[in-house]
Amino acid sequence: MITKCLFPVAGYGTRFLPATKSMPKEMLPIVNKPLVQYGVEEALSAGLTEVTFVTGRGKRAIEDHFDISYELEHQIEGTGKEMYLDGIRHIMQECSFSYIRQREMKGLGHAILTGEKTIGNEAFGVVLADDLCIEQEGDGVMAQMVRLYKQFRCSIVAIEEVPMEEIHRYGVIEGEQIKDGLFQVTRMVEKPKPEDAPSNYAIIGRYILTPDIFDIIRNTPPGANGEIQITDALMKQAQDGCVMAYRFKGRRFDCGSVDGFIEATNYCYDHFYK
Ligand code: G1P
Repeated sequence: MITKCLFPVAGYGTRFLPATKSMPKEMLPIVNKPLVQYGVEEALSAGLTEVTFVTGRGKRAIEDHFDISYELEHQIEGTGKEMYLDGIRHIMQECSFSYIRQREMKGLGHAILTGEKTIGNEAFGVVLADDLCIEQEGDGVMAQMVRLYKQFRCSIVAIEEVPMEEIHRYGVIEGEQIKDGLFQVTRMVEKPKPEDAPSNYAIIGRYILTPDIFDIIRNTPPGANGEIQITDALMKQAQDGCVMAYRFKGRRFDCGSVDGFIEATNYCYDHFYK
């Protein structure tokens, strides 16, 4: 059983400055809900109730969001407005939250390694809240991946086909197709130039990792951008054992970019709010 999920949220969100000067980018709202809450809801619906945030300076608003706000709640108690808190109250009831500080920004691999103490020796999920994933039929992406994990018992990355001109923004896989939408990874490259990309299958921000990844990360030298990359660690895991890449069902928005963020906002407004 997988019950733990890691949320690396220490990044600066420079693309959204000045909005993110004193506010975590993960707290930017898609309509009326912060990005990070969508991610936690997805994790919860996959049964991942032990949530760990790998956080950093200036991210306190995330802790406050997943906690009681006495004054506010006292004020609206018994009024019609209380229903606006139903969603977040449900999450707080079902999940536990821990926070670990990543003191230096040394890359996603480093952020994941920072979470090792709370994860321990079990498989766990990783959600990058910037990638907003909306289920379109049936289960959310994490729930789909947990199901696959039960079958294969190895690390799994979610993938999506992206246009070649955008491939340099992603980790990219090469793999042998096992069945429709499922590949055994043979190679992975972080942020390749289009001419070096082994395919147009980009890794998106959903992972299930087996705990041997921690030792591998510890021995992974800095890669693209001088950062310790989870993609490089996964490549080693794929060489020595097995890593699966899964073309998830659903829709994903790159909310780390302004265009993706606006697209997600319009989509969520049309589908969930109106
Ligand atoms: C990270 C990963 C990359 C992955 C991407 C998905 O990159 O390093 O492999 O494709 O997330 O969003 P980042 O967006 O942090 O640069």
